[in-house]
Amino acid sequence: MTSKAVVLGGALAALARIAAAAQPGAAEPVPAPMRDLVWGKLNFLHTTDTHGWHGGHLQEPQYSADWGDYVSFAEHMRKKADMDGVDLLLVDTGDRVEGNGLYDASSPKGKYYYDIYRQQDVDIICTGNHELYIASTADREHLHTVPNFKDKYIASNLDYIDTRSGERMPMAQRYRKFQTKNQKLDIVAFGFLFDFTGNANNTVVQPVRETVKEKWFQEAVREETDVFVVIGHVGVRMPEFQTIFREIRKLNPLTPILFFGGHVHIRDATAYDARSFAVASGRYFETIGWMSVDGELERAARSERSRLSFHRRYIDNNLLGLHHHTGLNATSFLTEHGRNVSAMITKARTELDLDYAFGCAPKTLWMSRSPYPGQNSIYSWIENEVLPDVAVNPRRKDVPRLAIVNTGSIRFDIFKGPFTRDTTYIVSPFLSKMTYIPDVPYAMARKVIKLLNNAGKITASSTPPDNRFMAIPEQLVIHESIINNEVSFASGDDLGGAPQKPLGEGAGQRPRLTEGYTTRDDIGNDGDDTVHLPVNFYVVPNCIQAEVDFPSDGEPETVDLVFMDFITPWVLIALRLLGGEYSREHVQLYVEGTFTELMAGWIEKSWPKRC
Ligand SMILES: *[C@@H]1O[C@H](CO)[C@@H](O)[C@H](O)[C@H]1NC(C)=O
Ligand SMILES: *[C@@H]1O[C@H](CO)[C@@H](O)[C@H](O)[C@H]1NC(C)=O
Ligand SMILES: *[C@@H]1O[C@H](CO)[C@@H](O)[C@H](O)[C@H]1NC(C)=O
Repeated sequence: MTSKAVVLGGALAALARIAAAAQPGAAEPVPAPMRDLVWGKLNFLHTTDTHGWHGGHLQEPQYSADWGDYVSFAEHMRKKADMDGVDLLLVDTGDRVEGNGLYDASSPKGKYYYDIYRQQDVDIICTGNHELYIASTADREHLHTVPNFKDKYIASNLDYIDTRSGERMPMAQRYRKFQTKNQKLDIVAFGFLFDFTGNANNTVVQPVRETVKEKWFQEAVREETDVFVVIGHVGVRMPEFQTIFREIRKLNPLTPILFFGGHVHIRDATAYDARSFAVASGRYFETIGWMSVDGELERAARSERSRLSFHRRYIDNNLLGLHHHTGLNATSFLTEHGRNVSAMITKARTELDLDYAFGCAPKTLWMSRSPYPGQNSIYSWIENEVLPDVAVNPRRKDVPRLAIVNTGSIRFDIFKGPFTRDTTYIVSPFLSKMTYIPDVPYAMARKVIKLLNNAGKITASSTPPDNRFMAIPEQLVIHESIINNEVSFASGDDLGGAPQKPLGEGAGQRPRLTEGYTTRDDIGNDGDDTVHLPVNFYVVPNCIQAEVDFPSDGEPETVDLVFMDFITPWVLIALRLLGGEYSREHVQLYVEGTFTELMAGWIEKSWPKRC
């Protein structure tokens, strides 16, 4: 009797685990108060800047659903659209790669990712800058993702060069004209990349202001259509989208123009005019964006008096939220395809040994949720604990040094608990190494950090780029008032008048609020699908610096100036301003290995192995 009950209990637990989906070991999703989706005639789901997080956020309950769950979600949403006779389109705006072990840890990179990603039936897809930094990444994008999505992949201002033949060709078709499934609405869609210049030489990015003058573009904007859809790896407030908007609007005064943007890693929405709407859907697969349009969309029905209504939601990638929006539950939500995709991810994560733990983080270290300098700042930890140990060159170990790291080289918080192989790619996905200039007069070297941390540009000179590119990208676009207040938004209870429903069991019982996005955009403060408590946001400098092996009293005459290779142009300019004539020839490798490897090595040596 007893043993039978135990067996039964075991079987039920296993079933619950399968039903829960997400990845094994992922944090259980948390309930929270919800705002519903508003459907229109034309509806969209949008992902952007997923950066390899297709396994979900295993340590963060509110974003722990995976790409397989999104496949299930989209399947149910399409079914609902079919039943209601409306249309649903899926959009992705690039930067799908770099930033998570699922992409980065394999050799070649993306060995598992391309097959996992393609399982989602995306209707309009384009390229981000991260697909293009390294020639082999661009090659793989052209070899895998472009053919995987065929006529759904759009490259309005991007060419690819086949390095073997030297042939230059569009990365994919320049635009796409198609009809929606249920209402047969005509759509003309474009797929842009911002005016990016850091790409490897096997691709060519055409500045948007030139693209809009191309003959093909001028023909495309003269197509008879019900709606224009412009997707782009472009922030919705960047001039590139404005240029495209103006060019389309000139010839099409009444046509709805819908924009989907990304790149700047924030949730954002704005309207360029009464018939044009733009949404950006965050980063790292934390967010699934939602846009809907209602009103007279068919061009035959359109007049100057017809009004359109737009809605947007930023859906937390939380399994319970996905259940809520589909009206399903743990038993009914997962589709066979979604389940298969989750299984593909589990297999890839296991084969890549992503859960291998270098050590156990004794506490959570924040990038910007906790003040710098401070006990819980990841940057203080690097400055005080990591750099003194890893900024060591055996041949120069007796020379005092200043070690400078740009804060943008850290991309994510470290959570209390196992620091795994996956975590290394999440926290520091870059291949940057530590370089140095030997024997710089200390009086000069000590002033470099101050110049690097100036807001804006170091000098009036046009090179190098804006200083702020050394810091984290999120900070580039954070609203001034948020920065000055230190704390992000006023009140977590501010529901913006939107209908609010508790998510999860227990009717009438409102779930506890968790910390998370409390977005304000040009439409209002009711964009997030989940009501959250605000998260603190503290500004961090562009760069941090550790003094290593300094004399116990007095100042050194000269120091080795050690810095991340990525910031070399800024460091050289700063030195020049301080009267030091240094050039790239003076810059040498300081320590073997990437900064990420050095950090993982430090953790293996310094933190307990097990939690
Ligand atoms: C592109 O860069 C590679 C590596 O730096 C170089 O070998 C190649 O010649 C370059 N190709 C072109 C077309 O400039
Ligand atoms: C899920 O929903 C179905 C259909 O409404 C219902 O029969 C089932 O009991 C629900 N399961 C759970 C675990 O709530
Ligand atoms: C799911 O995987 C199983 C086993 O590999 C396969 O037979 C089935 O066709 C797959 N189903 C879908 C919808 O992908």
